[in-house]
Amino acid sequence: MAIEKVPFIALNRFENSFKENFLRDVSELIDNTQFVGGPQVATLEKQLAEKSGAQFAVGCANGTDAIQIALRAVGVERDQVVLVPDMTFWATFEAVVNVGAYPVTVDVNRQSCHWDINTFKDAVDQFNPKAAILVHLYGWASPDTEEIRAYAKENNVLLIEDCAQCFGTNYDGQSIIATALIATTSFYPAKVLGASGDAGAVFTNDEEIAETARVLCNHGRTDHYSHGLVGWNSRIGSYESLFLNHSLKYIDARLESRLAAIQYYQDHLTGLPLKISRSSDRVNENGYCAVAMIEPALRAGLINSLQLANIGFGTIYPGAMSCQSGAAPFLKGKIDHGNADYISKAVLNLPCFAYITEPELAYVVKTVNSHFA
Ligand SMILES: Cc1ncc(COP(=O)(O)O)c(C=O)c1O
Repeated sequence: MAIEKVPFIALNRFENSFKENFLRDVSELIDNTQFVGGPQVATLEKQLAEKSGAQFAVGCANGTDAIQIALRAVGVERDQVVLVPDMTFWATFEAVVNVGAYPVTVDVNRQSCHWDINTFKDAVDQFNPKAAILVHLYGWASPDTEEIRAYAKENNVLLIEDCAQCFGTNYDGQSIIATALIATTSFYPAKVLGASGDAGAVFTNDEEIAETARVLCNHGRTDHYSHGLVGWNSRIGSYESLFLNHSLKYIDARLESRLAAIQYYQDHLTGLPLKISRSSDRVNENGYCAVAMIEPALRAGLINSLQLANIGFGTIYPGAMSCQSGAAPFLKGKIDHGNADYISKAVLNLPCFAYITEPELAYVVKTVNSHFA
C-alpha cells in the first residue's frame, strides 16, 4: 500500500509479544499488590546501572524531578547560581528555579548546538556559579564534554549532566552517563527508553550522592517514619518499572533502528539547502532525533510541504530559554551570542522512531527532495 502519511513519532510500534508479555506481568503485579517499590523497581535500577555503566541508578517520578534531586543531592542551595544552556527543554531551567536557585542562561555553539568550552569558561569566570547543568541534546553530547568537566572541577562548579535525551549515547567510547559526576534522565514515552507514563532516574558513581538522591525522592526517609531530609514523593512506580524492564530487552534493536533512519536521511537528502546534522566524532549518538538544519527563511516553506504530505515534524526547540515569558523573574544573567536563537529558527526534525519503515522514510525523502526540485 502506498504511504500517504508518516507521523513524527509512533509510540505503538512494539516488538512481537512485547504487549502480551507486559500485560501478563501486569496481572501478576496486581495479584501480588506490588504497587509502590518492590522487585520491579529493584530490577530496573540494577538494569539501568548495568546498561548505563554508572555504579548507582535511582529511579524517580520524571526527568524534571531527576534534575531537582541531582541539584539537591550535590548540595545546591537557595539563591545560588546555576548555569543552564540557552538551548534546552524548559525543564532544565524550571528545575533550577524549583530548588530556589537562580539560572543563568549560557549560549550554545552554533555548529554543535551544545556548550563549547570557551563560552563555558566565560560563564564560569563571569558568574562564579555553584553548579552548571550540561545538557546533551538530540541524543548527541557536547563535543567539549571532557574539557567542560575538567574546567568545572578545577573551579569547584558542581556539574550535573541532563541526559534526558541521551540514554545509550557514548562519548570517547564510554557511556556519557557512566563518566558524569551525576547524570539524570527522563523516561517520558517519546524518549529512546520510554515508559508508558512519566518516569526518570538519577545516575552517579558516588555512593553518598546516590543515597541522598534516594532519600530525597522518598520523603527524606531514613527509616519508614524517620525523616532526615525534607524531600518529596518522587518515587518511580512499579508499573512503569515493569514496562521499562521489558523495554530494556529491546533497547539495542530500537537504537539501531533509529540510527538507521537517520543514516537513511543523510544518504538520501544530499545537495539540498537542508543538511542532516550529526554529532561530533567524539560521540556515538543514540538516534533520539533526526536533526536537519535549514536556512530560517526556507523553513516555513518546507514545513508547509511536509504538512501537505501528512508528514509529522518537530522544531526542537522553537525558542531559547532566555526568551521564554516565564524566564524573566528568575533569570540572573545570560551569555547570548545569538546562537540558540538562530538554531531555534533553523532546526527541523524529521520523523524518527524505532521501527520506522523504509517506505515511510522513502516517502519523507521524496517529499523533501520534491520540495526543493
Ligand atoms: C533535555 C530535557 N531535560 C529534561 C526533561 C524533563 O523530563 P520529564 O518530561 O520526564 O520531566 C526533558 C524531557 O522532555 C528533556 O528533553
